[in-house]
Amino acid sequence: MTGSLAASDLSVRYETPHGNVHALRHVDIEAHPGEVIGIVGESGCGKSTLVTALANLLPANARIEGSIAYDGVDLVNLDAHRRRLLRGDEIALVSQDPMTAFNPVLTIGDQLVDFQHHRKDLDRAQKKARIAAMLTRVGISDAERRMRSYPHELSGGMRQRAAIAAALLTDPGLLIADEPTTALDVTMEAQIIHLLRELRREYNGIIMVVSHHLGVIAELCDRVYVMYAGEVVEGGEVDAIFHDARHPYTRALLACDPARFPERLERLPTIPGTLPNLTDPPAGCIYASRCERTLAPCHNVVPPRVKLSASHIARCHGVRG
Ligand SMILES: Nc1ncnc2c1ncn2[C@@H]1O[C@H](COP(=O)(O)OP(=O)(O)OP(=O)(O)O)[C@@H](O)[C@H]1O
Ligand SMILES: [Mg+2]
Repeated sequence: MTGSLAASDLSVRYETPHGNVHALRHVDIEAHPGEVIGIVGESGCGKSTLVTALANLLPANARIEGSIAYDGVDLVNLDAHRRRLLRGDEIALVSQDPMTAFNPVLTIGDQLVDFQHHRKDLDRAQKKARIAAMLTRVGISDAERRMRSYPHELSGGMRQRAAIAAALLTDPGLLIADEPTTALDVTMEAQIIHLLRELRREYNGIIMVVSHHLGVIAELCDRVYVMYAGEVVEGGEVDAIFHDARHPYTRALLACDPARFPERLERLPTIPGTLPNLTDPPAGCIYASRCERTLAPCHNVVPPRVKLSASHIARCHGVRG
């Protein structure tokens, strides 16, 4: 089954002893079968919170509001049983830490068999054959031997590939990779990017990639959502975001992209200032305290969602549609 995904007015807060952390606020995103969607933003902007919410894997202290529709089914208000069914077979999240994908005391092969529990039509030998093919597919050579390995016997890059293989074995309609490259060195990163790009050609579900590397997003994705402090501040097709960015935060992020500097700099440029306190978010625009072009309403009026084209939106008082 493949379906479209639409989150609307999605908010998530984490309840903590020090107050509520408003990690996601009024987010609207959509994705259609065959598309590769990028989620980009600085550390702490809520990228993992968003994709964990989409995969129905939020921790117990999270409270969610708004709606997530997948193939027309509202995931937020689904009963626990149907949600589990849908999560198992339809939406796969490759988490930021590939170690968490596997149980340390079971072999990779046994776990990858378990990942196919939904395939009642296959016996164990057929499942193993499918695993071997999938491991080879994600670039793990000597798949038979690797299936007998324990997670700690694999390198970081290989574990990441095995986690992607595990996700694909569940035949998901939505595959989410949260920072697929951060734990890896540059060569590994290039290889994983290459793999995801190939999958993109063969796969007709939705692929969602979270990254703070703009280069990864630019190469892989059809559409991009730029997040800042829990909000989507700009979204659009990859060309619009990279060549016609309108939100001051997107522009600042592009100006700081290390790929723009031909020589290695001593220190990478960063956007001055820090993220606002998410336990007590500011009243107006979330970016106002760091913005170079604030206007009178920015500090106390929530910016409108300005539509720049059919798919390009920005939330900013300074942008005209
Ligand atoms: N379980 C939790 N309880 C309380 N606060 C949390 C929890 N998980 C995340 N947060 C907070 O929510 C905010 C968003 O975190 P999140 O992990 O979604 O950001 P991120 O964009 O994925 O960051 P990174 O790029 O570092 O992975 C942060 O302020 C974080 O400290
Ligand atoms: Mg994260």
